[in-house]
Amino acid sequence: MKFCADPSPLSVSAIQSALGLCSLGRDMHIHDEVLSTNTMALALVDSGANHGTIVLAEQQTAGRGRWGRSWFSPPKKNLYCSVILKEVYPKDRLSWIPLITGLAITQAIEELANLRPSLKWPNDILVGDRKLGGVLCESTPQGTRRRAIVVGFGINVNSRIEEFPEDLHLSSTTLAAETGRLYDRNHLAARILSNLEVHYERLRSQSLQEVRGPYLASCSTIGRQICIRLVNGEDIKGLALDIGRDGALRLAPSIEFPHAQKSSKEVMEIRSGEVVHVR
Ligand code: BTN
Repeated sequence: MKFCADPSPLSVSAIQSALGLCSLGRDMHIHDEVLSTNTMALALVDSGANHGTIVLAEQQTAGRGRWGRSWFSPPKKNLYCSVILKEVYPKDRLSWIPLITGLAITQAIEELANLRPSLKWPNDILVGDRKLGGVLCESTPQGTRRRAIVVGFGINVNSRIEEFPEDLHLSSTTLAAETGRLYDRNHLAARILSNLEVHYERLRSQSLQEVRGPYLASCSTIGRQICIRLVNGEDIKGLALDIGRDGALRLAPSIEFPHAQKSSKEVMEIRSGEVVHVR
C-alpha cells in the first residue's frame, strides 16, 4: 500500500473514485464524530436509505463491539464503517454476511499492507493473537417496515498501541504497529468495500463453496483446540472441525466437557459464541 507520511482525512470522492462501478458506496456519508456508525446506519434505514449506503466516521464516541463491549474509536486514525445491505438472499446464507465481511477485510489488508491477518471465527481479524479489527452486524427490529442488515466494521489502522486503554495493550494491534508505516484509510475502505461486493454477489448467486473455501483458507480457528463461551455464559472446550453450510462452527467437544460425556462423538454446531484459541 502507498506509504503516507500524513494520512488524508476520509473523503467521499477519494473512496468513490477508487470504488469505480461498485454498487456499495454509491451513497456515502462521512461524519467527523458520531456515537456509532451502526447507530447512524440503522437510523438511515428507517428513513429509506438505499441498499449499499455507507456510513463512515473519523471518530465514534460510543462505538459498539460484540457482546455489549465498547469499541475504542479515537479520532482520525482508524476505520469505522457501516454498510447497509437490503437485499440479503437466500435467507439461509444470512449468517455468512459477517464472515464474508471479515474475509473482505483480511484480503484487502493482504493486498495493501503486505501482512496476512487471520480470521478467528466468526469475524475477528487477528495478527498472531492480537486483534486488528472486528465486525458487528445488526438488523433492524422485526416488524419494522424497512428491513435491512447493517454490517459495521472497525479496523485499527494508524493508532499507536500506547494510545489504547491499558487493558487492551496486550490483546490489540494496529496496521501501523505491525508494519511501521501509516496507511491511507480511503484506499483501505475502498478495497474492503469492493471485496465485500464480490463476496456478497457470490453468496447470493453462486455455490456456497465460492465463499466458504476462501473463508476456510483465512480462518485460524479450524483445526485448533478452542474454548468457546456461549451466549448463556457456558464454556465449552473442543476441537474446531469445520464451518457448516449455515456458517455455524462445528466443534468436537473434549471428553472432559460434562455435556459431551453422554454423547462424546456428537459434533456440536455453534451459531454464536466468543472463541479463545487454546493451542
Ligand atoms: C467486535 O467486537 O469485534 C466488533 C467491533 C465492531 C466495531 C465497528 S466500528 C464501526 C461500527 N460501529 C460500531 O459502533 N461498531 C462497529
